[in-house]
Amino acid sequence: MSTPTIQDHQAIDTDEDPQLAAERELARQVDAMLDNGSLGGTAAQFAQPRGADLLRRTEPVEAWHKARSADGLWQYARSLDGAPHPIASIRDEAGNGARGINFASQDYLSLASHPQVADAAARALREAGPHSAGSAVLLGNTRTSLALEEAIAGLVATEHVALFPTGWGAAFGAITALVQAQDHIVIDQFAHASLRQGASAATPNVSINRHLDVGHVRELLGAIRARDTAHGILVVTEGLFSMDSDTPDLAALQAVCHEFGATLLVDVAHDLGAMGPGGGGCIAQQGMLGRIDLVMGAFSKSFASNGGFVATASRSVKRHLQLYAGPHMFSNALSPVQSAVILECIQIIRSDEGDALRADLMRNVDGLRAHLAAEGLHCMGIPSAIVPVLIGSEKVSRLTGKLLFEQSVFVNQVEFPGVPVGASRLRLQLMSNHNMQQIKRAAPIIGQTVARARDAIAAGEARRRQ
Ligand SMILES: Cc1ncc(COP(=O)(O)O)c(C=O)c1O
Repeated sequence: MSTPTIQDHQAIDTDEDPQLAAERELARQVDAMLDNGSLGGTAAQFAQPRGADLLRRTEPVEAWHKARSADGLWQYARSLDGAPHPIASIRDEAGNGARGINFASQDYLSLASHPQVADAAARALREAGPHSAGSAVLLGNTRTSLALEEAIAGLVATEHVALFPTGWGAAFGAITALVQAQDHIVIDQFAHASLRQGASAATPNVSINRHLDVGHVRELLGAIRARDTAHGILVVTEGLFSMDSDTPDLAALQAVCHEFGATLLVDVAHDLGAMGPGGGGCIAQQGMLGRIDLVMGAFSKSFASNGGFVATASRSVKRHLQLYAGPHMFSNALSPVQSAVILECIQIIRSDEGDALRADLMRNVDGLRAHLAAEGLHCMGIPSAIVPVLIGSEKVSRLTGKLLFEQSVFVNQVEFPGVPVGASRLRLQLMSNHNMQQIKRAAPIIGQTVARARDAIAAGEARRRQ
């Protein structure tokens, strides 16, 4: 028998079962990724660089990014061509483009593409121009922003509302304005970075409660009050947790706060508008509208805009926020276009059409969760526009994210600092305008891709141990 030539080898390769060839190619890529470190490490390693040169000491994180990016494993800073529709064109940071099913945008009620919202924006642009020309305390308010304050007060049944240019600013501004250094904060371990960073900036007296654990909050409050009855305590939680899609028992939490003379702040960024009767979010769902001390929210998920608010029953609290919350006092107010867009969204959210949009959204949510469960995937939390799929290993979720992008299914792959190290997940976000066909098409791709990524990483690591 003659020795095979190079040409014979090529013939053998082309005859290979395409699926086997794809797995062989994936194994080759995984080996290369494991060798060059692009699957390893987490952003936690680079968070606190050391050295005297503030600029040069950032270089290690860029080297790590470069390795990941070269292997298609950098999930951040992708860009969208056009509006955040369920079918969208996306480009990654390295410039690779794809068009496919989009579970990575936050526009829960699809109001960013609602014609009434577009008209409201165009009208405001014509009538008041594109920007606010001042902070909210220095002539940055407009007729529309004042109407928006009233509309938010109606939506959350809490009389006094201060607006902020971002949800981030509302969270950080409210906490740092209300809490002094001698006061205390008790905050859920999975609270959003804006709340955690606000807490750290306000006081060194920060206690972290186990996620959703009201008993633990009670314990912490009891311990604080046993040694300090002279200072204030702020308890901080979310209506719907942004990475876990779960919700605390708000009535129990508010009762415990009052028992110990503490104040409760609930961040409703993800649930207000998209959930609950009349779009009142988890607070309305739990029958607590108008009964929470401080309600803070963002307009960036269900209100087709940027911006945030804090609502309170107290006129003096609003006055205090106006004077001492930095992002309210010292940052330009929401633009007239933003205010008009949010106002229009609230009108839709509180109408029959709002009920229909929430019903469409929940039909999609229930459908996606059921189809992912059928693929053997665990969806965390309660049904909401956020569907987190716990993966754990950053390596597996990174590879899954890359392979899904290549198959035109777009999800956000989340890891530290979004979630703790080792608790990586895929975060899918739904919109009213998704349809069941897209969901049915995507779910098996997601299920098979997670399994394929897990197997490929396990096999690659086993080869390295040999
Ligand atoms: C729970 C929570 N609070 C606050 C914010 C900040 O809101 P924004 O992005 O609108 O500034 C976010 C945004 O991701 C969030 O998820």
